Amino acid sequence: MSFDRSVKIAPSILSADFANFGQEIRAIEAEGADWVHVDVMDGHFVPNLTFGPAAVKAFRPHVKTVMDVHLMIAPVDPYIDAYADAGADVLTAHVEAGPHIHRTLQAIRAAGMKAGVALNPGTPAEAVAHLLDLTDLICVMTVNPGFGGQKFIDMTGKIATLRQMIGDRPVHIEIDGGVDPSTAPLVTKAGADVLVAGSAVFRGGSVDNSSVYGDNIRAIRAAAEGTWT
Ligand code: DX5
Ligand code: ZN
Repeated sequence: MSFDRSVKIAPSILSADFANFGQEIRAIEAEGADWVHVDVMDGHFVPNLTFGPAAVKAFRPHVKTVMDVHLMIAPVDPYIDAYADAGADVLTAHVEAGPHIHRTLQAIRAAGMKAGVALNPGTPAEAVAHLLDLTDLICVMTVNPGFGGQKFIDMTGKIATLRQMIGDRPVHIEIDGGVDPSTAPLVTKAGADVLVAGSAVFRGGSVDNSSVYGDNIRAIRAAAEGTWT
């Protein structure tokens, strides 16, 4: 995984057909996805439940790009090795998920993965001030985590602050929640480079009609890139 700040579209398979993950993953990659975003929820840290390490391991052979695993679980540390074994390229933990995020990020890297840290909308940028050299990605939540299809919450001030804090470090800024062609330019202009999109990618399409996924991905990308100056 090489580092650059070009716009990357990461469809969230939370909006895919849950009976058909393999085909859905292959379809979004064929239609231009840069990364595949996998939302792991535990019914405890967030009020919804998705899938665990065994399912994520089953997704792995279908992902040819980057498997970006977003843990919305607490605690995190007991499961890090299981997600490494499942083949995660990026493993993201929430700063709110426990008292020892510093240790968690060290452990994720020690297990051979890129380490991401996610911030809920109510958490300030400063929460990661002492983590910048331990992280490869900062995920700014633009919805309260737990469900797809929620309304975008404007976090552009936080994104710009983080972009400044990061400086020259090779740290991605990822945006998660409510990203579509109308909100994408706001976040890329503020400094984001990885855009997670669930409903805005899968809307209107299916594995039998996957060109719609391509149209949706291209629309988000064009809107996001149109703002670069
Ligand atoms: C929310 C998840 C997101 C979600 C985004 O808790 O982390 O990745 O799937 O879905 P949309 O793009 O529909 O807001
Ligand atoms: Zn997510």
